Amino acid sequence: MAQLIRLPQEMNSVSKGFHAKGRTIALVPTMGALHLGHRMLMRQARTLADELVVSIFVNPLQFAPNEDFERYPSDLEADLAICEAEEVDVVFAPTAPDIYLPDASCVVVEERLSPVLEGEARPTHFRGVTTVVAKLFNIVAPHTAVFGRKDYQQLAVIRALVRQLNYPIAIVGVETVREPDGLALSSRNGYLSSGERTEAVRLNRNLRRIKEKIEAGERDFGALCSFAIKDLTDAGWKVDYVAVRHQRGLALPGPADRDLVVLAAAWLGRTRLIDNLEIRA
Ligand code: PAJ
Repeated sequence: MAQLIRLPQEMNSVSKGFHAKGRTIALVPTMGALHLGHRMLMRQARTLADELVVSIFVNPLQFAPNEDFERYPSDLEADLAICEAEEVDVVFAPTAPDIYLPDASCVVVEERLSPVLEGEARPTHFRGVTTVVAKLFNIVAPHTAVFGRKDYQQLAVIRALVRQLNYPIAIVGVETVREPDGLALSSRNGYLSSGERTEAVRLNRNLRRIKEKIEAGERDFGALCSFAIKDLTDAGWKVDYVAVRHQRGLALPGPADRDLVVLAAAWLGRTRLIDNLEIRA
């Protein structure tokens, strides 16, 4: 049986017990509403350590006041059954008041990668992510933490956090899990109407087209992105960004750069979808 822990202090003492016995810990941080994407992270993590901890916490600090915090899906019973099936040892599901004390005044901010792309559309988002992930790392003290490449910029920000704040934690990125038509699995896909669900694949289709064109030698990244933005906008989407960047550092690439990634975020009705594809130019 997976052990369900609510209190940070209890999680911390269980973790100390693991360390004392020489047992390694892998952590998979999540916001619940678990799907196959999360499960693939758990399967990878399961192979990397003796003890597998999954955290489930819908982190209020990473949602802006106008965002979907209030309607973010939550079903702890279903999530626990999934964790059980994936042989999770500990599910850490704290409450917001136990994570954020009433007099909370400390945050963790990454200042180079966070302001671009997602950060332009969601200026306070990564500050919420880095703060909660730092807290989870402190509470759980894992040897390894596993994240999805679906949230490409988040993974880059967390790698910077760990390297620069000297967390002795190996960060592992897991490939994006997709529906058969290419749509990346997301807890937010449940917001889509059936008509929107059919339309949703347009985002990934545009990224695939950009990847193919670049791999075939096209180097006018701006024109490729503008074409995709127009295709999405014409189909009724509201695009936050479609951008080709360096894999490391997410800087604008020059024509000679090889390791690229195309990233996009766009609204389909009331649902914001993100996706990315790595490109070897
Ligand atoms: P959440 O959206 O629940 O995602 C938890 C982890 O699952 C993240 O590392 C995310 O990249 C990964 N993931 C989600 N969908 C995926 C997919 N289709 N394929 C592969 N991996 C996928 O990301 C967060 O929560 C939060 O920001 C968190 C890191 C937990 C901090 O609150």
